[in-house]
Amino acid sequence: MKPYPLQYIAESVLATGARVVVRPIRPDDEAMMVHFHEGLSDRSVYQRYFHMMTLARRTAHERLTRVCFVDYDREFALVAEGRDEESGASAILGVARLQRVGDGEAAEFALVVADRYQGIGVGGALMRQLIGIARQEGISRLRADILSDNGAMRRLCARAGIPVRPTTDPLVVEADLVL
Ligand SMILES: CC(C)(COP(=O)(O)OP(=O)(O)OC[C@H]1O[C@@H](n2cnc3c(N)ncnc32)[C@H](O)[C@@H]1OP(=O)(O)O)[C@@H](O)C(=O)NCCC(=O)NCCS
Repeated sequence: MKPYPLQYIAESVLATGARVVVRPIRPDDEAMMVHFHEGLSDRSVYQRYFHMMTLARRTAHERLTRVCFVDYDREFALVAEGRDEESGASAILGVARLQRVGDGEAAEFALVVADRYQGIGVGGALMRQLIGIARQEGISRLRADILSDNGAMRRLCARAGIPVRPTTDPLVVEADLVL
């Protein structure tokens, strides 16, 4: 198993002027991940997972240990760490995942930003880092399924230069970037 990929830690400035550090997730992020999930609306959960998942299930210890303990040979999970607006404490504002599929040349990606931090550039910062990592890791194709009515994600893809096209399912579009 590969060691923690220190080379993929990067800082970004958000539209608010606040700073976030985008970095690979760590096993000790579990407590912050619980707090992160508390900040997701049902709508964001549905847009990310395509079905509802209760907070209890999303924050179950067995699940979060798996989520936070990543085999960096096959996948990458990134968090955007910033400051909680109210408490000033460190907080996870967004999470992104890149998972190799098939022979490992292609990867699927997905991301989700806590509702109160959406629309200020957290998703953009995660997306930039995901694409950079995919290139460095020799991934030749990046794809994701997106709900057709997910305007924020479609705009994010457009800004990141990721083509989005229809699928046979009118409710789903596909982001597909050849690197
Ligand atoms: C999609 C998502 C990841 C985007 O992250 P974000 O941090 O809000 O994105 P950014 O702030 O970097 O901005 C992305 C663009 O979407 C716009 N945007 C953000 N939130 C929006 C919203 N709720 N409605 C409409 N537009 C929105 C931003 O203005 C920006 O567009 P612009 O800069 O061209 O004007 C985030 O909204 C989210 O977590 N949604 C729920 C989960 C989800 O849909 N995941 C995608 C599954 S693959």
